[in-house]
Amino acid sequence: MADTSSQSVAHDRTLDRDCTTLSRHVLQELQSFSMEAQDLSAIMNRIALAAKLISRRMSRAGLVEGALGFTGNVNVQGESVKKMDVYANDVFISVFKQSGLVCRLASEEMEKPYYIPENCPIGRYTLLYDPIDGSSNIDVNLNLGSIFSIRKQEGNDIDGEARDLLQNGRKQIAAGYILYGPSTMLVYSIGTGVHSFVLDPSLGEFILSSANIQVPEHGPVYSTNEGNFWQWEESIRDYIRYVHRHEGYTARYSGALVGDFHRILFQGGVFLYPGTLRKPEGKLRLLYESAPLAFLMEQAGGAASTGDAEILDVLPEKLHSRAPLIIGSKEDVALVKSFIQDRARESREGLQIAR
Ligand code: AHG
Ligand code: MN
Ligand code: MN
Repeated sequence: MADTSSQSVAHDRTLDRDCTTLSRHVLQELQSFSMEAQDLSAIMNRIALAAKLISRRMSRAGLVEGALGFTGNVNVQGESVKKMDVYANDVFISVFKQSGLVCRLASEEMEKPYYIPENCPIGRYTLLYDPIDGSSNIDVNLNLGSIFSIRKQEGNDIDGEARDLLQNGRKQIAAGYILYGPSTMLVYSIGTGVHSFVLDPSLGEFILSSANIQVPEHGPVYSTNEGNFWQWEESIRDYIRYVHRHEGYTARYSGALVGDFHRILFQGGVFLYPGTLRKPEGKLRLLYESAPLAFLMEQAGGAASTGDAEILDVLPEKLHSRAPLIIGSKEDVALVKSFIQDRARESREGLQIAR
């Protein structure tokens, strides 16, 4: 005879899981119905809506007009803009219009912040975002992401220069990313751990899949573009030579930071985008790429560094400032840093360390 009690327990568990939607989770995490809690929950809901819209367009990108390819323009970063970059950038703006939630949006694709003055009397928040991360993957149907960060506006920003954004990453009140892979996932933190959600297309809801994610102390993966080896400082080459010569390391690099970060968050290891000859500050932008991911990684028990300083302590000089990024498991980040420190000591003391 069928065991009806165990069946109903399994049923309850599935139901409980299906009911843990993103908005409910945010309110649970904040343990409050204060104005700020309501605001944050509403902001996360809007981000989730943006994620669903972008995900929907991507899932049919090869079939609809105007989804793939370049626009022919170059953005403020000097990078060729893809049609999907523009679409995703506009989606985030649209979902926050008339929301009363976000005064300003600052994105990789816009030279200056976008202001929504009608929201400002109520929602004094700023959304910083990378609408599509890993744009080079779009046309070949590989994983992509979006990255977001939320800060509270400080002061009135009368001159429209958004100078209050030029503060360190510890000023973030929430951060996260969306991963467009075999399923669409949203991973976020509001400073109470890192939590992941899977988009259930049949419900149109993001449902909790893992709560309080902790990154392993060490992992096998190193993730970097080794094509830049010739452009790196000797310390980074030392690290790469080390992993080449020791058992237990494996390389994974997808060309989209969000995907590479996601793997490391769950399985451990380290992602590196160091400075290069051509770009001494590296490629990744502090305010809407490195800082939000550093916020998540610290919340998950990992580390994020430029090699010299913690990413969350770095002060951006401008909206689109870049910084070298070394992020992942504590032990692996420490190992990379040890090679950087060895070379620095060597040059300070005029030493020649035998390798
Ligand atoms: P974006 O598409 O937002 O410009 O970001 C691309 C970034 C990041 O996703 C990835 O890790 C890195 O660029 C890849 O750069 P390389 O092609 O130089 O390896
Ligand atoms: Mn990016
Ligand atoms: Mn981008």
